[in-house]
Amino acid sequence: MCADTTAAPGRHGPLSDRDSLWLFGYGSLLYKAGFPYLEQRPAAIEGWSRRLWRGSHDHRGTPEAPGRVATLIEDPGARCAGMAYRIPPQALGPLDVREQNGYLRLTTELSFLEGGSDRALVYIATPDNPAFLGPAPVPEMAHQIATCRGPSGPNRDYLVELARSLREMGETDPHVFMLEEALWSVAPSPS
Ligand code: SIN
Repeated sequence: MCADTTAAPGRHGPLSDRDSLWLFGYGSLLYKAGFPYLEQRPAAIEGWSRRLWRGSHDHRGTPEAPGRVATLIEDPGARCAGMAYRIPPQALGPLDVREQNGYLRLTTELSFLEGGSDRALVYIATPDNPAFLGPAPVPEMAHQIATCRGPSGPNRDYLVELARSLREMGETDPHVFMLEEALWSVAPSPS
């Protein structure tokens, strides 16, 4: 992976010379595109694990009570499933705004679940980012997710939607599913 941050406006990295490029979504971008794309394909990246270790004070929480959203942690041998979107380069502008709070833009190799591979952009919050929260005891993370909400809605919906989308893809993610189970014990499902 090589860094290509949004702190350098206009630099979209080695993929910017293409008519279209792949974006890999593993959090909200997996279940809620909300941007124009040319096609979408289930995909996975190697060497990274999804963790709800990033604080969100602009979407799923507030500055006073930040929620928890996904980032990627380097993890040799791990695999992270998500959704790849082929987008026109101009779609990156609004996406950079949506993902601005704590994410950098990186490029990585992805594998499409139906076969084949390509390079893709991915948004990631690294530990040196002020928005990075890191790990906490599971009941503590579940309580935070159960109680926080922000302009994009309750933090619990983020987790539940993410888990539901992964199940729909036939994928497992022990970290996400463990947090979802812990969420039900602190805040049972209304249904
Ligand atoms: C992503 O979905 O790829 C980035 C993290 C998020 O927006 O939840």
